[in-house]
Amino acid sequence: MQPFAAPAEGIISLPGSKSQTNRALLCAALSEGTSRLSGVLYAEDTEAMLEAIVSFGAVVEEDRQNFEIEVTGIAGAPVFQELAINARQSGTTSRFLLPTLAAGNGRVTLDGDQELRARPFSEQIDALRDLGCEIEELDKRGGLPVVVSARGVERSEVEIAAATSSQFVSGLLLAAPLYSNGLKINLTSPAISRPYIELTVEVMRDFGVLVEQPDDSTYVVNPGHYRAAEVHIEPDASAASYFFAAAAITHGRVRITGLHSESRQGDIRFVDVLEQLGAKVVWGENYIEVEGDRIRGGTFDLRDFSDTTQTLAALAAFAENDIEITGVGFIRRKETDRIAAMRTELTKCGVEVKESEDGLIVRPNLWSLKGARVDTYNDHRMAMSMALLSLRIPRIEINDHECVNKTFPDFFSRLEELRPKAKSRENTVAVAAIDGPAGSGKSTVARLLATELKLPHFDTGAMYRAVAVAALRAEIDPDDQDATAELAEQTKIAIGDRTFIDEVDATDEIRTPEVDQLVSVVAANPKVRRVLVAQQRKWATELGGGVMEGRDIGTKVFPDAIFKAFLTAQPEVRARRRYGQSSIQTLGDVAEDIERRDQIDSTRSDSPLQVAPGAVVIDTSDLTVEQVVSELANMFRSVVED
Ligand code: CDP
Repeated sequence: MQPFAAPAEGIISLPGSKSQTNRALLCAALSEGTSRLSGVLYAEDTEAMLEAIVSFGAVVEEDRQNFEIEVTGIAGAPVFQELAINARQSGTTSRFLLPTLAAGNGRVTLDGDQELRARPFSEQIDALRDLGCEIEELDKRGGLPVVVSARGVERSEVEIAAATSSQFVSGLLLAAPLYSNGLKINLTSPAISRPYIELTVEVMRDFGVLVEQPDDSTYVVNPGHYRAAEVHIEPDASAASYFFAAAAITHGRVRITGLHSESRQGDIRFVDVLEQLGAKVVWGENYIEVEGDRIRGGTFDLRDFSDTTQTLAALAAFAENDIEITGVGFIRRKETDRIAAMRTELTKCGVEVKESEDGLIVRPNLWSLKGARVDTYNDHRMAMSMALLSLRIPRIEINDHECVNKTFPDFFSRLEELRPKAKSRENTVAVAAIDGPAGSGKSTVARLLATELKLPHFDTGAMYRAVAVAALRAEIDPDDQDATAELAEQTKIAIGDRTFIDEVDATDEIRTPEVDQLVSVVAANPKVRRVLVAQQRKWATELGGGVMEGRDIGTKVFPDAIFKAFLTAQPEVRARRRYGQSSIQTLGDVAEDIERRDQIDSTRSDSPLQVAPGAVVIDTSDLTVEQVVSELANMFRSVVED
């Protein structure tokens, strides 16, 4: 994956909701008459449902190009002799169909891929047995494959726990009108993902069947018939979460059409989380737009929209503070153990994650982010969420990325649509802001990058060092802020290949350990910063841009820089690099000095050293200078026309 070197920007429409498509396909298949569905999702999970409804007699006419489909239903419960249905990896297909097949007549085997066989079905199988259905597990108890010897359902009341999957309840509801005496469902535990049950109720209403809900834990459906309908499927809100997160992560702006505040999908609430974290959200009549700003931190209960857990965990890698996700213990039993998988893969990228019983805590440390080859566990949501890290971290590689076919075959090309276009150099101050701590390779890299791009190079650190030298010479107490600032104002500093203080070459003098000791104190002085930052802005603006390196270029000096990068390296690597440049200090001294400077630089109140919003983070520990320079040059060229 190649990082976005600037904010994500775009207006996109997304494929239809998987959840709504599979509910509508089943209702249409059981209806009398021909239904027309538009905005349909064509992906593996919905193919599984399509294949199944055709196998028991529904007639479908597909118009894939226009995301439409016509379904002529079988007007009631399915009748079959000997049927085999393969739900592939689709939880919705299998759990929606099982209670419907039980309402029919004949013998049917329901099976799926290995991943689906590993997922739980026992609550639903038990409930159906309580209703008098004959179901035989062929492999292990409570799992697929099963054989159903169907002969209709007469009993009309059942209890079910909905703590593992709301799909168990949705499946029973969808089948309920086919049961000869209807069905009353009593939930014995509070339902997770309740918005998905509501979605089921609404789709059933679209097809003419009403569900009564006398209280929070009871649903009642009378025996009846589905009627053909014309239904428009909403864009998939879970899929939308990746694109909204992309806006937040890259400090960009993304609008998704077809979604709105009246959306039926629970996952739409993910944008509320983004808003609480600091993003700006606009709810249009027929779109939702997210503009990235801060990513603060906090605790979020995602019980009702758990499919966005991985999206939030990936986003959390770039947050200012810890992000804790609670209420989602049950996602350990989805396509994979999503909590463990997320911990493992984020850890590979330098993100600290702690699992808890019902969720996880991400402790972001942007200084330790690094590219890695990540696994996807045959879970589409692993691939799509880990792709988000690649927006700002180079060298993320995603294994078996085709697993997105399950719900979103063209995910990667849609993400590409948000990639920022190169801007013309005219009328822009083309600043490449390169920030990072000592030993990250910043200075060497920035100098070579400037040569490569034929741009001026500004070493702003040399300016702070020059002021420190001037203060030492004038014997000014660095704690005297006014005196030091006045000195900064009066001293004539010229930076370039060599550094001049009042026209005398001081290139070597600014690099002594004595200056190393003093410079961070001088640089923490807000009045000194004001003087130097004004000069930096003036120079770069006059020259039309350049490669500017320092500690606050992306955050303070040029927050709108066309390209922002933050260079890091493991602390030991940074110390070793510096040690190589100094003959006076020991490695231990160098490491201590760097650590002390990091501490002052990143905690000072004025312009602390931080990763700028949206900046690309590059761990240079294992890279040569040439590799870093070429990576940066490529990124810069992707956002600025030559
Ligand atoms: O080369 P090294 O990373 O050691 O540091 P430098 O770029 O020469 O900067 C020396 C010091 O100046 C840093 O430790 C910061 O305290 C300060 N500095 C800053 O505050 N803001 C900048 N834009 C650049 C440097």
